[in-house]
Amino acid sequence: MQTLDSIQARRNVRQYTDQPIARDDLERILDAGRRTPSAGNWQPWNFVVVTDRDELVELAKAWERGGRHIAKSAATIAFVVKEPDDVRQRDLLMYDLGQATTNIMLAAADLGIGSGHSAVSDQTQAQRVLGFPDGYFAAFMIGLGYPADRPLRPQLRPDRRPLAEVVHWGRW
Ligand SMILES: Cc1cc2nc3c(=O)[nH]c(=O)nc-3n(C[C@H](O)[C@H](O)[C@H](O)COP(=O)(O)O)c2cc1C
Repeated sequence: MQTLDSIQARRNVRQYTDQPIARDDLERILDAGRRTPSAGNWQPWNFVVVTDRDELVELAKAWERGGRHIAKSAATIAFVVKEPDDVRQRDLLMYDLGQATTNIMLAAADLGIGSGHSAVSDQTQAQRVLGFPDGYFAAFMIGLGYPADRPLRPQLRPDRRPLAEVVHWGRW
């Protein structure tokens, strides 16, 4: 897929087939995350990749309301980061993690692999499953898998505000 096609085709995919994701493809997706720009190039992310079904089921319990797709994913990438020192660092962290999320999701879409965000609510459960050290937290998770609902195709009418409403040329 071309980049613009990936942007138009990506959507949250929360139903996955049983097909595993090849290790090479997972590494390409993770490399897209690694290449993300960040403030001062501090690269705050660590990616913990879970593929074991029992572990995925346990990981999904870290956000029971909105993370059910994690249990059914072929692989989930958890973003594990150091606790920020202050509000400014937290803002930068969230900006940079958002960018890493997009890089990862677009790389996945490029390979025909669906992806779905999940927040993390229960840090104790996340730490139990992922085994990260104290002083870190799991900020977000991205479930990955081949779409079970419909293939990824550029969406002609995305559920988005119209361009003319969002864009102000030259001045508001
Ligand atoms: C910061 C953030 C957190 C999100 N958290 C969740 C979540 O916990 N569970 C979930 O199912 N979707 C989650 N989403 C997905 C959004 O609901 C989804 O991106 C939005 O509705 C637009 O749909 P689309 O991605 O299919 O275009 C999250 C998205 C973002 C950007």
